[in-house]
Amino acid sequence: MTELTRRSLITTGGAAVLGSSALVLAACAPAPLRPDTDGTNGTDGTRSQVPPDHIPVASPLPPGTELVQVTEIPVGGTASVTVSGQDILLAQPAEGDVVAFSAICTHQGCLVAAIMDEFDCSCHGSRFEAATGAVLAGPAVRPLNPIAVTIAGGAVVIA
Ligand code: FES
Repeated sequence: MTELTRRSLITTGGAAVLGSSALVLAACAPAPLRPDTDGTNGTDGTRSQVPPDHIPVASPLPPGTELVQVTEIPVGGTASVTVSGQDILLAQPAEGDVVAFSAICTHQGCLVAAIMDEFDCSCHGSRFEAATGAVLAGPAVRPLNPIAVTIAGGAVVIA
């Protein structure tokens, strides 16, 4: 498996860096994965929440799957990576302390982006705390879904 197919894109603090050398700015503009289901565009708070079983869920990646090198995540910052078609958010709140979350927004399933020191969904403006995935601002009310990771040989891998 080539480096490019294993890890197609890494974004750090809003900047996009492709595993090889190209820059993909489209990754900074998340696209909705689901249509607005109630016609409110998510502006009416909890009434627009999609039940958890209706939001697309990524299949678990096998344990040991490498996501990114720890050094590619700024300490106190965030990054995102796409591995095997799955969009994953990462943060390193303290040096050597790495957390990961699904990038699927818990509001209506849009793609959440790593922006500086938090995770933001541009569809309806939900914001999530990087260290915990907790909601900082709605309309989402549920935290991002965590992904268990560990560090092995300087890389962040699925636990
Ligand atoms: Fe509505 Fe993310 S899908 S805020």
